Amino acid sequence: MKNKNILHNKDDENREGHLAYRRTPIEKESPEEYGYENIHHNLAESSVPDVVYGDLELDLKNITLSYGDHLGNHQLRQSIAEEGESFKSDNVLITTGAAGALFIVATSLLKPNDHAVLLHPNYVANIETPRAIRCQIDYLRLVYEDKFKLDLEKLEQLIKPNTKVISLTYPQNPTGTILTEKELNEVVALAEFNGCTLILDETYRDMTKNPPSIAASLSSNVISVSSFSKAYGLPGIRSGWLITQNERLMERFLAAKELIFICNSIIDEAIATHFYVNKKQHFLKNIQGHVRANFESLKDWIDRNPYLEWIEPQGGCICFPRIEMDLDVDIEKFYFLLKEKYKTFVAPGHWFEVDKRFMRIGFGYPSNQELSAGLQCITKALEDSIIS
Ligand SMILES: Cc1ncc(COP(=O)(O)O)c(C=O)c1O
Repeated sequence: MKNKNILHNKDDENREGHLAYRRTPIEKESPEEYGYENIHHNLAESSVPDVVYGDLELDLKNITLSYGDHLGNHQLRQSIAEEGESFKSDNVLITTGAAGALFIVATSLLKPNDHAVLLHPNYVANIETPRAIRCQIDYLRLVYEDKFKLDLEKLEQLIKPNTKVISLTYPQNPTGTILTEKELNEVVALAEFNGCTLILDETYRDMTKNPPSIAASLSSNVISVSSFSKAYGLPGIRSGWLITQNERLMERFLAAKELIFICNSIIDEAIATHFYVNKKQHFLKNIQGHVRANFESLKDWIDRNPYLEWIEPQGGCICFPRIEMDLDVDIEKFYFLLKEKYKTFVAPGHWFEVDKRFMRIGFGYPSNQELSAGLQCITKALEDSIIS
């Protein structure tokens, strides 16, 4: 018999599981992991200010803590379905954030020998889950010099006979670019023609003036993904959703959800439903005013800033400027000073696997005062780091 003190865990043999999970810089270095209390000017968030529960005027004292409907709260699914013309409530699956939806969709659709075309840069889960599955990947890269525009010709060229998935995010994270209805229709047609599934992460859709149709309303080859975290400021309830008109796929997604967590938290769903049904319109009106005012401050700052250039964002509450290419700057020193001396947080380029001269600035989360102070700190940290 083995010595009981020597615990043998087969995981110690350096084996990797079927799904190759790894933690990424955007999560490891996130503001919540660093500690919100250590940050004075938080320009790293891609959301609007976090909502305080007490402001929701909701009393959950008598809620029964049972399991819930596996697809998700029916009233919530019905209300989400009513936003599109062709949906019914059973086309909507409530998930643990958009991150949960992205995980369910990718692991349900992709096998190692399948091919996926992924927009890059993007939010981490859109890229990391297909990578963890070890499927074949081609990246459709957004390029600053092309104004971060979606290159449809390039997308078409990347599609192969075994391409199962095209994955896009619009309004885009981190660039803040958007898709027109015409472009969306072209991508949908491309997916249909090639028999692929288009995953469209529409997490920032409610933060855009005149957004195009909910993509899943256009074809049963499309899955729309969205969230309570970003446009509504409710990341703590970990609630999001996916929409598909494809009943066979929905059955598979529901099976995945049931294996992972059966149903969502009843409390989270009660808050989400109350917010969506009773509070959303009023809230969005106020928050859009806040985001617009902050955008004006940001634009004014960047237009007058000799050190940065940008592609002006058209949707969402983030932008992805870059330090002027001919400015000789010590990048590591810049980020060090920005964080340690100026207590200001931005999302550096390496969170998105691009040059650190890029940084994502979130202008929806901070108050106008915090934003302006943070922007001044970026200027100061840059000036401190210029190599003369
Ligand atoms: C485009 C995009 N999709 C999904 C998510 C994940 O959101 P959630 O908090 O709903 O899981 C994020 C978070 O930053 C995101 O930016």
